[in-house]
Amino acid sequence: MNALSSKLAGWRLFWALGACILLMSGLLLAVGPDPVEATRTVIRATARTSFVLFLAAFVASSLAALVPNAFTRALMRERRYLGLSFAFSHLVHMAAIVGYGVLDPKFWPSRGALTNTPGTIGYVFIALLAVTSFHAVSRHMSAATWKRLHTVGIWVIAAIFGLSFFKRIPSMGVAYAIPFSILCAAVAVRLVGKWAQANKRKQAQIRNSQANTHPQHALEP
Ligand code: HEM
Repeated sequence: MNALSSKLAGWRLFWALGACILLMSGLLLAVGPDPVEATRTVIRATARTSFVLFLAAFVASSLAALVPNAFTRALMRERRYLGLSFAFSHLVHMAAIVGYGVLDPKFWPSRGALTNTPGTIGYVFIALLAVTSFHAVSRHMSAATWKRLHTVGIWVIAAIFGLSFFKRIPSMGVAYAIPFSILCAAVAVRLVGKWAQANKRKQAQIRNSQANTHPQHALEP
């Protein structure tokens, strides 16, 4: 297991996940009797692979803080590659949307500009987060700007997933309440984890300042 996880790390993990997403999309297109419907299935399937990868990156650091074990530490270590794999999966989502628009000319006219607004904002953030996860770009930003962008971007993407699932509950079935509830649970995990991390940092600062104010205590055996 350890040998397997150490082999599937970093860029290797990214390429493996990317290959699975491409394979899945190719198979769906190959086996679907109607190319238009098959393309729509790829749109849905890639939205779901994106959701799983996004969730893994979204809760990684909180889970590692709340439930420290080999798996959550690996999740934390690989979160950059999970995030990039999410961006790749959503690139395939976009390619399938473009393909669908070509195959079904009624698609774009049937969607108002307002319908496309959350998705477009989502893609802007996905692109920004992906590009700034490379050192060559992030080194031109201050740490505070990077952190602000990634925090805002992650919450915007989470909100778009929430909206995409929630709006389908009345029209496409109560089953969409399942991913929506999973997202709500992930939000709770992330908030509790961040609170625990902040608390831990505060306790460490208090201990440090006490050690500095009473240095003799630090030297006591
Ligand atoms: C302008 C950009 C986007 C367009 C035009 C678009 C279009 C679509 C379409 C046509 C579907 C399939 C609808 C169906 O057959 O029921 C879909 C599904 C979905 N999209 Fe997108 N999308 C966009 C961006 C995004 C973004 C940025 C996210 C998330 C961050 C997202 C998440 C989803 C989800 C969760 C589904 C539902 C999948 C399911 O049925 O389980 N989409 N999108």
